[in-house]
Amino acid sequence: EEARQVRIELDSSLPKPLICKLRDIFASPEKFVDQRVCLAGWVHHWRMDGKRLAFLELRDGTGFMQCVLSNELCMTYDALTLCREASVRVWGTVRHDARAKGGLELHADFWELVAPSTPEIEMVLTHESNPDILLNNRHLVIRGRRTSTTLRLRSLITQCFREHYFQRGYVELAPPTIVNTMCEGGSTLFKLDYFGINAYLTQSSQMYLESGIPAVGDCFCVLPSYRAELSDTRRHLAEFHHIEAEMPFITFADLLDAIEDLVCDVIARVLAKAGDLVRDLNPELVVPRRPFRRLTYADAIAYCREHEIYKDEEQKIHFEYGDDIPERPERLMTDQIGEPIFLTHFPVSMKAFYMQPCTDQPDLTESVDLLMPGVGEIVGGSMRIWRYKQLMDAYAREQIDPKPYYWYTDQRKFGSCPHGGYGLGLERFCCYVLGVRHVREVCLYPRYRGRISP
Ligand code: 4AD
Repeated sequence: EEARQVRIELDSSLPKPLICKLRDIFASPEKFVDQRVCLAGWVHHWRMDGKRLAFLELRDGTGFMQCVLSNELCMTYDALTLCREASVRVWGTVRHDARAKGGLELHADFWELVAPSTPEIEMVLTHESNPDILLNNRHLVIRGRRTSTTLRLRSLITQCFREHYFQRGYVELAPPTIVNTMCEGGSTLFKLDYFGINAYLTQSSQMYLESGIPAVGDCFCVLPSYRAELSDTRRHLAEFHHIEAEMPFITFADLLDAIEDLVCDVIARVLAKAGDLVRDLNPELVVPRRPFRRLTYADAIAYCREHEIYKDEEQKIHFEYGDDIPERPERLMTDQIGEPIFLTHFPVSMKAFYMQPCTDQPDLTESVDLLMPGVGEIVGGSMRIWRYKQLMDAYAREQIDPKPYYWYTDQRKFGSCPHGGYGLGLERFCCYVLGVRHVREVCLYPRYRGRISP
């Protein structure tokens, strides 16, 4: 009853506040210290300290700041019933305070509730231990400090990729993601009914990028790709963001250089823009040394055989030439070697139909996977078959009906050229850069078998 009667009012005789974001304040504190500001955001934390003092940690999406509320400000009905995640507006003066995170705090002179939250929030967000509950409530979990920072850094990493490409003269294309061709084999296609005809969600935009090089030259895209992956691993998603590029008139060596340049330049850009934030999450991150170590597929099989990395751990069965190296052994090898590895020259039989065979060893392809410690494969790329006859033979070998691929084949009819490209999984790259274990953690709302909500 008493609380209901405590009313507070905005004092119009105070200096006019600067309307700003926390980002602005932390970017140039000297401009804001001792200034009156008005901030809008969410209550990240709320703690009463006796009757006359309260601490409100405000989050506005660009940062966090402690606001000190005293006397009447923490005695109103809204203050006494305030719950975490309510949205508020706070007026006050920015002050230096060594004890506060970031060295600044806000001494409030007025605040208002924009919209309340409820105590239920405490039930949802404390189930730290059960990943499924956290994933069901991801719409709330993303508000947390770590997850919101991760999403912010993912955005920055994406920006750095675009900057890399634009700086080097690539053009961004936007291929369709609803398609009637497959790129990476039938087993992981999502099928859908497209106005009565069969279509798929794209596995890769590669073939469309290839069709774009005679139009715009070097090109790239940042788009979702979809894989009906049954493997439930920490690096597989059903929907992921695929950063792909394609380049005309290059050699296989040029392709490897381009991938090295991409990975090192993007990491350098991220460190330059947000080194402190990134090193908070992943203190070990440095720009990898170039050139990356090169290992052929045959070398990798030999490495596994020599280093007790088995195809079947229990029965101690060795890998044989021709075996696919699955995720676990591949990661064991990468972690043992402890640096980025270009794994090259996979046998034709193991790889997609479009890959260019090596001139001197036609049973091998000019193909590459980039493996990074802690994550495993983050890039897959190759030179592409660029001769008409060879492509027709590849369709036949893989029993692919060439009809829906007519536009892809046409590239080999009208001014073909040696070319190549690659695809990089953005989520896996983010895991590497941010030192995050599971690709789900760097997604806004991850999609994998068994999850469609939220
Ligand atoms: O090696 P992949 O399958 O290559 C292609 O799709 C080529 N067509 C790309 C190209 O040359 N333009 O996939 C490329 C990368 C992988 O290295 C991985 O980082 C990521 O895409 N990726 C996945 N990421 C998360 N979940 C999945 N299910 C993924 N499948 C592939």
